[in-house]
Amino acid sequence: MAEAILEVRDLVKHYPLTQGILFKKQVGAVKAVDGVSFDLVAGETLGIVGESGCGKSTVAKMLVNLERPTAGQIKYKGTDITKMSGKALRSVRRNIQMVFQDPYTSLNPRMTVGDIIGEPYEIHPEVAPKGDRRRKVQELLDVVGLNPEYINRYPHQFSGGQRQRIGIARGLALQPEIIVADEPVSALDVSVQAQVVNLLERLQNEFSLSYVFIAHDLSIVRHISDRVGVMYLGRIVEIGRDAEIYDHPTHPYTQALLSAVPVPDPSAREHRERIILSGDVPSPANIPSGCRFRTRCWKAQERCTLEVPELAVPAVFQLLEGPAHHPSACHFAEEKRVVPSE
Ligand SMILES: Nc1ncnc2c1ncn2[C@@H]1O[C@H](COP(=O)(O)OP(=O)(O)OP(=O)(O)O)[C@@H](O)[C@H]1O
Ligand SMILES: [Mg+2]
Repeated sequence: MAEAILEVRDLVKHYPLTQGILFKKQVGAVKAVDGVSFDLVAGETLGIVGESGCGKSTVAKMLVNLERPTAGQIKYKGTDITKMSGKALRSVRRNIQMVFQDPYTSLNPRMTVGDIIGEPYEIHPEVAPKGDRRRKVQELLDVVGLNPEYINRYPHQFSGGQRQRIGIARGLALQPEIIVADEPVSALDVSVQAQVVNLLERLQNEFSLSYVFIAHDLSIVRHISDRVGVMYLGRIVEIGRDAEIYDHPTHPYTQALLSAVPVPDPSAREHRERIILSGDVPSPANIPSGCRFRTRCWKAQERCTLEVPELAVPAVFQLLEGPAHHPSACHFAEEKRVVPSE
């Protein structure tokens, strides 16, 4: 039976836009995340995709408490972590760890690999007492496919792929249940990307991890995700099982994104139209009324300027099994498929 390990509801992060030097006056807000809701089922990988600036990293940072939400809830096993502080928060944070995008800048160049991977134990000494840390770090190096003898080396002595393995080892140090991976392979050579994705998959099985896996690229997410959520301008516009999103996208934005993904099969390629979206993504400081995608949408009508299309959050049991609507935040997505139960 599926169980939600994280329930995210109406999550919002607005950054104030100010003017003036001495007397700062708020003149608006950058609506980086503007009402995001989803469940993360224990053991699944939820892919989140969307163009640069749509708010993916901001969502990730709020999940691991690097940013405080402006509004909304993040429930971990039923308890809202946005309301927690002190010891209770620290113990929850232990279970939700992040792997960062850029292995070149996210590792402190002046620290040895051993100190980088073992740093989380400074905050959580209960996981590994001092005398035990070196052995633990060596074990982690081995788990991510690096030689445990590298423990005293510095980040610059490693390749990009190896550095990302170090970042992953650090993410695993506290034995978390959830890993939020923010574009973990985007900065790597294509030849190395698959190796790191394979490693993440192996670790997921070995340690029963749940992943939120963020990417620009729909093709990378497809390999690893059970479900995919598509973000546009601070919101998820469509979310569903992998095959549903790829084979039966109902939101025009998802359809456009998918039309840009290369198809290896030439006969399938002929049947596919490339959808070129008009205009640029609007500024998150100036989000269009109604449907935020309408300014670029070929299906847009008057209704779209007036009514915000909401995205339903299905009951957890519907997410991975049984019949389920797959939610789409489009007024004209009534062709939403109902998945027959097997
Ligand atoms: N600290 C901040 N102050 C003001 N605006 C911010 C801040 N952090 C992010 N933003 C803005 O919020 C929006 C979302 O940023 P975010 O980094 O979450 O996007 P992203 O989807 O991760 O993009 P990318 O794919 O480029 O990593 C952007 O417009 C960004 O400029
Ligand atoms: Mg980002």
